[in-house]
Amino acid sequence: MLTKVIPASCLALWISSCAIALAQDPNMTRALQLMSETPLIDGHNDLPWQLRKQFNNELNKVDLHTLSTTHTNIPKIKQGRLGAQFWSAYVPCDTQYKDAVRQTLEQIDVVHRMCQKYPETFMFATSSQEIKHAFSMNKTASLIGVEGGHSLDSSLGTLRTMYHLGVRYLTITHSCNTPWADNWLVDTGSEPSQHNGLSPFGKQLIVEMNRLGMLIDLAHVTEKVMNQVLDMSKAPVIFSHSSAYSVCPHKRNVPDDVLVRVNQTKGIVMVNFYNDYVTCSRTATLSDVADHFDHIKKVGGAGIIGFGGDYDGVTRLPVGLEDVSKVPNLVAELLRRGWTDEEVKAALGNNLLRVMEEVERVRKKKKRENHGTMTGMPDDVPIPYDEVKNPCRTSVGYPDAGAIHSLSTVALLLALALQACISSAVY
Ligand SMILES: *[C@@H]1O[C@H](CO)[C@@H](O)[C@H](O)[C@H]1NC(C)=O
Ligand SMILES: *[C@@H]1O[C@H](CO)[C@@H](O)[C@H](O)[C@H]1NC(C)=O
Ligand SMILES: *[C@@H]1O[C@H](CO)[C@@H](O)[C@H](O)[C@H]1NC(C)=O
Ligand SMILES: [Zn+2]
Repeated sequence: MLTKVIPASCLALWISSCAIALAQDPNMTRALQLMSETPLIDGHNDLPWQLRKQFNNELNKVDLHTLSTTHTNIPKIKQGRLGAQFWSAYVPCDTQYKDAVRQTLEQIDVVHRMCQKYPETFMFATSSQEIKHAFSMNKTASLIGVEGGHSLDSSLGTLRTMYHLGVRYLTITHSCNTPWADNWLVDTGSEPSQHNGLSPFGKQLIVEMNRLGMLIDLAHVTEKVMNQVLDMSKAPVIFSHSSAYSVCPHKRNVPDDVLVRVNQTKGIVMVNFYNDYVTCSRTATLSDVADHFDHIKKVGGAGIIGFGGDYDGVTRLPVGLEDVSKVPNLVAELLRRGWTDEEVKAALGNNLLRVMEEVERVRKKKKRENHGTMTGMPDDVPIPYDEVKNPCRTSVGYPDAGAIHSLSTVALLLALALQACISSAVY
């Protein structure tokens, strides 16, 4: 037998080196220490979409302790030290002009029900304060982001209602144009630009999101929209799951000039782990993802970086980052690459907390400034009817939608004035 020819001293050496490996490398120990002090806040996870696809949202048929067909389950969440998650309320673009709003409400509902079913793991959260509170209770703070403006059916009332249901970010588009914003596919030439970025209604929506205190997510939009929003938003923006264009020139990624503007406006880019956005090929490694972190840090500073894994929304993930349990490996890799404790903690969660606190501050400031005046009221001017006309939408509420829609505001006022004259003559 082999052991008979191995001297005892060699065996002892083998056992002790094995023990050192088991005690893990110091950078992993440090990573876990930092993750116990600062919550890992991930910007985008599509588990709710998997719940619809695999179970039609029948949570009674799911056990998140043992579910093995997803990147995310409770043991993996615990192992991955997931401090807070923006769960994605995503519905596909082919629901636009059909049942997108209902399906989105059902995705919001399934996140609420998931938190109710597993209260020892999840704590629903809607603010920076609640994220910190959930973390202090050793629970995964659970927030909701709606992925794509098609989920609103071009309605500010729907946006506000979703805020009331706990939604805290809206991705302005998914991979389709809405009646008021262009998506990233416009930059690839595979879809036409319809609005040259944002339409006037799209700009109303940005103002309303600032007023509400809803995070504006620029993942998936055309570059033109990125810049228009950076020009006009009163609060910092997020990219909930996007990587660096200079490292992998995919149009879903963020170009350097935009990274610089995100730095100037104190926003955040949460790095996507999808192989196709990491290496622009079907394969990738954890080290390739770390390259995106290094690049964004070089261009915009460690203050604008976050994690946005896109788990359960993608089909190919890097070797070493196969599911949510693996994220500490990436944190250790950043330490290995010389990131300081403060830089790592910034990327883990402090940057997102800063952005969210600022968005909350803008909300409060708008409320205070506008107390007793009309300027801080919800925007109730609807999108013009001819911009949303489609066979699945009625014109209820739009007076004489067929005739008035083409008149300018001045003409409309004149018409109203004329009508007032006629009425006073009659009565
Ligand atoms: C959270 O976990 C830590 C470490 O395991 C423990 O020291 C602490 O008491 C726990 N806090 C709560 C509120 O359970
Ligand atoms: C932006 O970059 C400057 C200069 O490199 C840096 O001092 C600052 O901290 C950065 N801002 C953020 C939010 O990281
Ligand atoms: C840990 O990271 C440091 C750099 O911060 C590096 O010098 C060291 O070699 C790493 N240790 C291991 C065991 O990888
Ligand atoms: Zn996405």
